[in-house]
Amino acid sequence: MKILITGCRGQLGQELQAQLAAGQSPLGPVPERLRHATVLAIDIEDLDIADREATVAYVRRHQPDVVINCAAYTNVDGCETDTDAAFKANALGPRNLAMACEKVGARLVHVSTDYVFPGTENGGIPLDESALPAPVSAYGRTKWLGEQYVQQFCRRHFIVRTAWLYGYKGKNFVKTMVRLGKTQQSVTVVDDQRGNPTNAVDLAHHLIRLADSHEYGLYHCTGSGVCSWAEFAAEIMRLSGSACKVLPCTSAEYAAAHPQAASRPAWSALDDRALRCTVGDAMRPWQAALAEYFQNWNGE
Ligand SMILES: NC(=O)c1ccc[n+]([C@@H]2O[C@H](COP(=O)([O-])OP(=O)(O)OC[C@H]3O[C@@H](n4cnc5c(N)ncnc54)[C@H](OP(=O)(O)O)[C@@H]3O)[C@@H](O)[C@H]2O)c1
Repeated sequence: MKILITGCRGQLGQELQAQLAAGQSPLGPVPERLRHATVLAIDIEDLDIADREATVAYVRRHQPDVVINCAAYTNVDGCETDTDAAFKANALGPRNLAMACEKVGARLVHVSTDYVFPGTENGGIPLDESALPAPVSAYGRTKWLGEQYVQQFCRRHFIVRTAWLYGYKGKNFVKTMVRLGKTQQSVTVVDDQRGNPTNAVDLAHHLIRLADSHEYGLYHCTGSGVCSWAEFAAEIMRLSGSACKVLPCTSAEYAAAHPQAASRPAWSALDDRALRCTVGDAMRPWQAALAEYFQNWNGE
């Protein structure tokens, strides 16, 4: 068994490598077949997935059984201005991997986002896999096109949407709040966008389990429970022992202060229905996953 991980330097890519190397995650063992897999972990300097010929040639040369695509242009605000780069990484990249996987019979696990949704409140009901995307940002639009290409060009695919991701390695909201919590008396955080914080440990664990299955298709995979960014920030301050106050603001107030920022969906809480109904996995409450993060994170 050979697993190719693209975007291996990112938050998720690094967590996947750690779990595959250890043969387990805090949530349980890596499935037997994948535990002894050869892992090929690459990033943009090894292969730019936006280059179709190079991607097809690379996959043909290495003949992976599974490709897990963690590569993306994830700077949501940057995608608004750097639109060609976003299109290449988030749409053409997955298309090229899908074409390459189809040629060698590999399974493709592709990671997408809650930002494919428009953010209409949906009566307070988390969105399951039957909900219709209508992205409101360049990031969301390019990621949605990437999903469609994967569906179109690779039969054995898993498209897994996650949200509000934080891992031990790389930059994320949790680390930013911890840093601000050490130096500021207060931080102002948006309180009218609601979603699901997701620990990269949980996502990686479930991606590996899915990759071992034949349950192809579309998935949501996020921490269970819903909160606002301000509520998320308040829990981070509490768990990190910071006295820094979280001052809630509206998206409109944030946009007035940050005119370059991309629009973000107000309601992008996801329901992991397909995961529950196929491999039977329930995601942990986001608070439990965050508490474990603080127990294990070395502060870097
Ligand atoms: N972070 C979140 O909150 C979040 C939320 C929802 C969904 N997701 C999705 O989850 C997945 C993993 O996110 P993450 O936070 O782990 O991402 P990340 O930390 O930003 O890592 C992405 C990696 O992909 C690389 N990359 C970018 N363009 C590439 C290209 N054309 N070819 C090859 N590699 C390329 C990046 O290199 P450079 O650093 O050099 O650009 C980086 O090392 C992505 O699909 C993302 O869209 C993330």
